[in-house]
Amino acid sequence: MRELWVWAVLLLMLCSNAGWAQKNAVDEEGHAWWQHAVFYEIYPRSFADSNNDGIGDLPGITSKLDYLRWLGPDAIWIAPMFPSPQVDWGYDISDYYNVNPDYGTLKDMDKLLAQGKQRDIRVLLDFVLTYTSDQNKWFQEAKSSRTNPKRDWYIWSDGKGPGQPPNNWTSNFGGSAWKFDSTSSQWYYHYFYPPQPNLNWRNPEVEKNMFDVTRWWYKRGVAGFRLDAVDVMFADSQLRDNPVVGNEKNAFGDPVEREINDKNQPELHGVLQRLRKVADEYDAVLIGETWTSDIDQLKRYYGEHNDEVNMPMDFMFAMVNKLSPQEFRKQILWVDGSGGWPVYVISNHDIRRAYNRYGDGKHDDQIAKLMASLYLTLRGTAVMYYGEEIGMENNDPKRPEDVKDSMGKLGWPKEKGRDGERTPMQWSPEINAGFSTAKPWLPVGDRYKTYNVESERKDPNSILNYYHQLLALRHTNKTLLDGKYIALNEDDPTVLSYMRSYKGQNVLVVLNMNGVTQKVDLNLAVKGVHATSAKTLLSSFAAPSRVDPSEISIPPFGAWIGETE
Ligand code: GLC
Ligand code: CA
Repeated sequence: MRELWVWAVLLLMLCSNAGWAQKNAVDEEGHAWWQHAVFYEIYPRSFADSNNDGIGDLPGITSKLDYLRWLGPDAIWIAPMFPSPQVDWGYDISDYYNVNPDYGTLKDMDKLLAQGKQRDIRVLLDFVLTYTSDQNKWFQEAKSSRTNPKRDWYIWSDGKGPGQPPNNWTSNFGGSAWKFDSTSSQWYYHYFYPPQPNLNWRNPEVEKNMFDVTRWWYKRGVAGFRLDAVDVMFADSQLRDNPVVGNEKNAFGDPVEREINDKNQPELHGVLQRLRKVADEYDAVLIGETWTSDIDQLKRYYGEHNDEVNMPMDFMFAMVNKLSPQEFRKQILWVDGSGGWPVYVISNHDIRRAYNRYGDGKHDDQIAKLMASLYLTLRGTAVMYYGEEIGMENNDPKRPEDVKDSMGKLGWPKEKGRDGERTPMQWSPEINAGFSTAKPWLPVGDRYKTYNVESERKDPNSILNYYHQLLALRHTNKTLLDGKYIALNEDDPTVLSYMRSYKGQNVLVVLNMNGVTQKVDLNLAVKGVHATSAKTLLSSFAAPSRVDPSEISIPPFGAWIGETE
């Protein structure tokens, strides 16, 4: 009898331990938590400043969790918050096991994780795995001598001749991708800035060491990572030159190269598979910074057996850059038919805000709602970018002396860098948009008095309230979560329409990408759906509560979402 008790208690303990019963849980469609989730990217330096030093921080993020809870994302991804000399604003990590003092302490991180958990908001970090900061102790050791045990953790080579780098590879931020180190008289490889030496992933110790970093954070409660710059994790082992294309020069004045030897090397997929195995042990999820030029490349990141990156972001969709139904249809069809779970993004800390890229200067707010209606109603997971929900726009530096992003310093005036899309979150009409009482590290956007959380929450027609409703709809509508994507009116050059179908339920999405009112016949019968009425679920304009799907009127840049009856 006593033994039975012991067993029962043991079993109970096992089941309740760290959500054990929930581990790798899926719904009846086989979908895991992240497939129904909306993610929200936070640039920590610019989100919220708790101690008024002009720099956003972790307690600032924690203080905004209730706002996020109200808005609706299920998870946040925080851009690098590790100790860093900030040459590339955190993407140059000097210690993977700590928090940058600008942003707080490990205790603050634990608090953020715990407070997030209480609100069902998971926290993901940014894993910069391709390179480290040159201030990282691993690199300091590696560079100390040619025989140091960590020497081979990075990529070293003799030059072609005196003062000549080993090959013609150029850095993404301009100039040669090699830097001469006078201590050991060899060159080291850096795909990005010189202070960002690339790790040598062919060395098994690097793999072990970096995988351990992820384990350490998973154990602390982190729900996954966004994997930075995975395409340049490996370069050709023989260091062969890249072919040069014509006589053109890029924004940095370097020759344009076809990057066949410094990008997309096959070995990277082995690493991703093994990294995924570790993530799976913790029910964690991997998002990929996966720039690709075609769908086959993107497919490779999912892995042949869906065993690499859970969520490779589709930047081909993100960079459509014009309100073109044909172009969006093509991209959606590709990724939707890829066999992997689509991941849609329209903005991030490296690209101009969608508000500017798609806006026409006249209907910008309508267009912001239109774009939201698009990527948040497709079959897949959406990754938002902070401020997008209030219609934040780029605030680019006007003078070279104001530029903070080295990319802009090196590329000015052709390349102004990425400061514009990284400005402080606009919380209120107060001084500095309520971000901080001190001068923020980047200037707040000009229109913050109108475009801010506090004012927009009060306005039922604001972009913010539209996002709020859209996220609520997405979370509660099974068809939007699990339904198939079916394109409608595939030849329509002005209106993008599609249907999401699940177990006989159909959600219809109609997006007018044009400045003229359109009358739309959705031609549902062609798809075997015979409905004469559809109920409006959400619209960006005053739509009737019921419409006839063969005759829907949509104003300029209007978005309508409904359900057949
Ligand atoms: C990634 C980051 C970007 C950074 C680059 C190099 O692409 O998203 O912000 O500049 O890596 O570090
Ligand atoms: Ca601060």
